[in-house]
Amino acid sequence: MKRVYITTPIYYVNDDPHIGHAHTTIMGDILKRILKMRGVQVFYTTGVDEHGQKNQASAHESGFSVNNYLDQKATVFKSVFEKLNISFDFFVRTSREGHKNYVKQVLDELFSNKLIYKKYYEGLYCLGCEQFKKTSDLDENGLCPDHKKEPEIQKEVNYFLKISEYQSWLINCIKKNKTLIQPTVYQKEVLAMLNEPLDDWCISRPKSRVTLGIDFPFDSNFVTYVWFDALLNYISNLKLNFEGESEFNNYWANLIHLGGKDIIKTHCIYWLIMLKILDLNLPKSIQIHGHWVGKGGIKMSKSLGNVIDPLKLQQRIGTDAIRFFLSSKMTNKDSRINPSLIKSCYENDLANNIGNLLYRACKFTLKNFGDKVPEPGDLIEREKILHLFLEKILKVNISQPSLKISYELANSILIIGNKLNKYFNDAAPWKLIKGKNKEKEVKTVLYTVLDGVKVLFELAYPIIPNTANEVLEIIGANRIPDRIINHNIQVGKLKPGSKILSPKIIFPKLV
Ligand code: ME8
Ligand code: MG
Repeated sequence: MKRVYITTPIYYVNDDPHIGHAHTTIMGDILKRILKMRGVQVFYTTGVDEHGQKNQASAHESGFSVNNYLDQKATVFKSVFEKLNISFDFFVRTSREGHKNYVKQVLDELFSNKLIYKKYYEGLYCLGCEQFKKTSDLDENGLCPDHKKEPEIQKEVNYFLKISEYQSWLINCIKKNKTLIQPTVYQKEVLAMLNEPLDDWCISRPKSRVTLGIDFPFDSNFVTYVWFDALLNYISNLKLNFEGESEFNNYWANLIHLGGKDIIKTHCIYWLIMLKILDLNLPKSIQIHGHWVGKGGIKMSKSLGNVIDPLKLQQRIGTDAIRFFLSSKMTNKDSRINPSLIKSCYENDLANNIGNLLYRACKFTLKNFGDKVPEPGDLIEREKILHLFLEKILKVNISQPSLKISYELANSILIIGNKLNKYFNDAAPWKLIKGKNKEKEVKTVLYTVLDGVKVLFELAYPIIPNTANEVLEIIGANRIPDRIINHNIQVGKLKPGSKILSPKIIFPKLV
């Protein structure tokens, strides 16, 4: 695995980004940094989905011209992601000419292959999802479960893509390839959806209803359905960024899609069939995460107005604490987020565990041995046990990149922090130092803790890059450069004699 292509969903610009959008885009950045540390070249895309009825309505409400509105919102999303220290390689905008041309080219091709036809259609449309719904998709009150709204009845003539004939192919494919949709709960959900007959897919919208979209190349009365257009970004991104087939193929061979559980139908059914029709390989995996839910277990969403603003949260707890909270606390299912859970993660996991460890290890060293990393003496059982434990964590296999890897990494940071704190407490250098001829042993303990701190923060770099680098500098180790490719983390590599700086409180008390 030399090259990996990671994508996030592209977000609707009907409102400003909230913590859910920040979540997926931060997870992609963490995965990218994990892979880069292992020597993998990564192309990572995120961005915005600028077409469709929902965006059109918001643009009209804003009072700005549509283009002006789209530019403003795209800028907001991009700058929020940059402020969260996300190292995307390409910011997707579906309004780019190159993307629009590619979508039209695909439509032309499918039309000439007789895979697209026109028919009259009646259906229930959820604007929040930008999707037609079956009654079986709705809750017991007939509402969309994500948007808590009754869908509208639409009766219109539209173009359809012939996909129903691929249903059994897709079922087989998902059953055979157990790692295609991860985690397994979502594979099961997709298979359950496929228990019902799959209808052909409506891929146009009449201009009488929607004008914000890509013109249908062979019928000027229609625009392209927003999901058909948006999914194709995953292909057009590579075409716009790399010339020739070889780089395209290299990245495509290791494609990993990330997204929340709201997008499984579009990605695990429509998109996979589109790829089959376009004769492209299926992605390595589609990685699904749960939803952040607010009060009453309700999904945080722009349409419901119950959102957490990532920049306000950043002002309170800082970028790295947000990144840590999101990666360590999101489960496969709905996951709760609220100020008190965030505060407890900040205080217990970050400030009191890893923050405090750094502070007291440095303070004690500076007070007793000056500003140099002490030279260790012989290791005894307690150091050897600690080393075996660290080495086991360092050996974790990442040949199958997944969201689980980031989640486990975040949680192993806490385990390492606890272990190192316990080692420090048990060895109690502040007591040892009072004994005779104990200086060598005290130095061994301090070296072991500082070297453990180095391992911990090198491991934590993908999640909390700025803090990790500040800490590495404080303990006299090398910072990890942003353009890093390959960084081997090993136990026992902190150089004795390196200069230690006065420690900073890396996670200060919240006001
Ligand atoms: O669906 N918790 O865009 P969208 C966790 N444009 N993640 C969340 C979340 C929450 N409460 N809310 C949103 C669209 N997300 C389409 C996608 S892709 C070709 C087109 C994240 O603005 C999560 O990744 O509704 C989810 O899948 C995505 O935002 C939906 O963003
Ligand atoms: Mg949505």
